[in-house]
Amino acid sequence: MMDVGRHPKIELLTHSELEDISGYVGNFKARIRKKARYVDEEACITCGECTTVCPVVVPDEFQMGLSSRKAIYIPFPQAVPSAYIISADDCLGDNPIACGKCLEVCEKKSINFDQEDELREIEVGAIIVATGMDVYDPTALDEYGYTRFANVVTSIEFERLISTGGPLEGHLGRPGDLKRPQRIGFVQCVGSRTQDQKRGNPYCSTICCMNTIKGAQYLMDNYPGTEVTVFYIDLRAYGKGFEELLMRTRGHGVRYVRGLPGEVREDPPSGNLLVTVENTIEKRLEKHEFDMLVLAVGATPAIDTEAIRQMASIAKSPSGFLKEAHAKLRPVDTPTKGIFIAGAAESPKDVRESVTQASAASSHASILLSKGRFAVEAITAAVYEDACTKCGQCAKVCPFGAITWQKKQVPQVISAACAGCGTCAAECKFGAIEMRHFSDQSIYAQIDAILEEDSQKKIVSFACNWCSYAGADTAGLSRMAYPPNARVIRTMCSGRVNPEFVWYSFQKGAPVVLVSGCHYVDCHYIDANRSTVRRVDGLWNGLEKAGIRADRLLLEWCSAAEGARWQTIMHETEKKRQTVTLEELELTRSALAKVRVPRPRNPKPADEKQDSEFVCLRCGHRWDGVFSVSWERTCPECRSNSVRWLRKK
Ligand code: FES
Repeated sequence: MMDVGRHPKIELLTHSELEDISGYVGNFKARIRKKARYVDEEACITCGECTTVCPVVVPDEFQMGLSSRKAIYIPFPQAVPSAYIISADDCLGDNPIACGKCLEVCEKKSINFDQEDELREIEVGAIIVATGMDVYDPTALDEYGYTRFANVVTSIEFERLISTGGPLEGHLGRPGDLKRPQRIGFVQCVGSRTQDQKRGNPYCSTICCMNTIKGAQYLMDNYPGTEVTVFYIDLRAYGKGFEELLMRTRGHGVRYVRGLPGEVREDPPSGNLLVTVENTIEKRLEKHEFDMLVLAVGATPAIDTEAIRQMASIAKSPSGFLKEAHAKLRPVDTPTKGIFIAGAAESPKDVRESVTQASAASSHASILLSKGRFAVEAITAAVYEDACTKCGQCAKVCPFGAITWQKKQVPQVISAACAGCGTCAAECKFGAIEMRHFSDQSIYAQIDAILEEDSQKKIVSFACNWCSYAGADTAGLSRMAYPPNARVIRTMCSGRVNPEFVWYSFQKGAPVVLVSGCHYVDCHYIDANRSTVRRVDGLWNGLEKAGIRADRLLLEWCSAAEGARWQTIMHETEKKRQTVTLEELELTRSALAKVRVPRPRNPKPADEKQDSEFVCLRCGHRWDGVFSVSWERTCPECRSNSVRWLRKK
């Protein structure tokens, strides 16, 4: 931190908040609010006189509320700049009507209640998002008694208790009575690795096991004779030197019990904790008594991650952490060019991994900037000005904000920001957007070729490049046979599938059409496949109105690794195809020839979480459930994604 603060080429903006990001790779503009400190950091000599007279006492956030601070304070010992700051929220009265005691005692006259927030706009070529993580709040897990019993603490609070910079200056004591604990229990996986949403998150937080093992070793080294017991589901000590450290703690007498406590009670006079646990290795119920219990809480995305994600147009993974462009090949890039991620903003990770990723992200950013120019993708969108009606729909659906539009103006595509998903081209009802290399003409030509002969025997399927097409490839490479009459049209994203392609396929005699793409939260173009869902919903409604069975259009998600799933999807689609008779095909043709099929109306966007009814178009199963916009649509019976949502009356 000190090195960064002193570096001539790094400007550190502390006590500042990012308010907006606009622009694109090489030309980003960031609007930053530098908040008022009310203390002149140059003049302040950190004598501390102000804190002695400040009458306001509030819990110290850095010490996890285990000690207190004043309204004028230094946030943490290594803070840069090393100067006091006044918390406007805590200071008495409404600024600038403060009590003024600090002002009176400050000999250097560094207090300035007239200071105001400063708004700055800076131009940058690349952005690295490294917002870190928060920890799970275990209050909801009632059986552990966190916040009910004084001597139940989280692993972060334990860190503060043993830190020399902590509230007890490194002299370990338990919060209830500050006595040195002789028997300490650690409970692993608190808020991690659970399928019950009310009890935490499904993922492994990766750092908790080693953090506990490190804490146990610290106790062995500094407080010999302390009895340490660790309750766990399984221990994950992967990484350089980690297994050795685990063995060392075992050698020093740390007891590891496989099983998580079912109940924690407090013995009121002593403040000790009585823990009941099932030892699943020895298959018996055990009772333990501890002076202090430490809950190894899992990691969660930092509270402001979502706001930054929306500003920077970054995708997120199901866990809420930011999503990389490719898990193996581009782990520090995001789908938005020029924006990189590092550290726990991407997933829970330890210091070593965070430093590695931060080095990689800064190297990638400097490679980009040092070139001085940027190679634009070959697959980008272009607007045909003559056909454009200036409605601006394309700009609204672009996940990357690569299309700029002003009322009554032809939209402009910023090629450097365009990722080539094609969802704008699919949205344009006037054919005014063309995707280079995935043009409408080339897709219509493929449909024509597929349905030229024996159209009644063909399956027309659209597959996105990154997941479902790759899934089909995996099936092929693994020799998982699927019906040979399936014909796959590759698009970069399922969001490229214009409803007109589907209507055209049915007009040309396709018995069934399959639209497939990445799983809902895995779209490689942030959330472009949400548009796919909306369009397919509209198509199902339109087909029904035209007297055509809606279940002849299927929607399925399939990832690159799911060759077997692709095989199943194709077999099920083939079964559906076999239900379509020649008479039905003829009726479809004549129905579509007679009536000019209205373009599908976009269904009203559903509210977040509402009671709904669903029907599976593959197996016909109907059920009630709760609709949410992030729900992946999976039939509980056959796992198909061709699930039609019927809003409840
Ligand atoms: Fe696969 Fe968007 S990239 S659905």
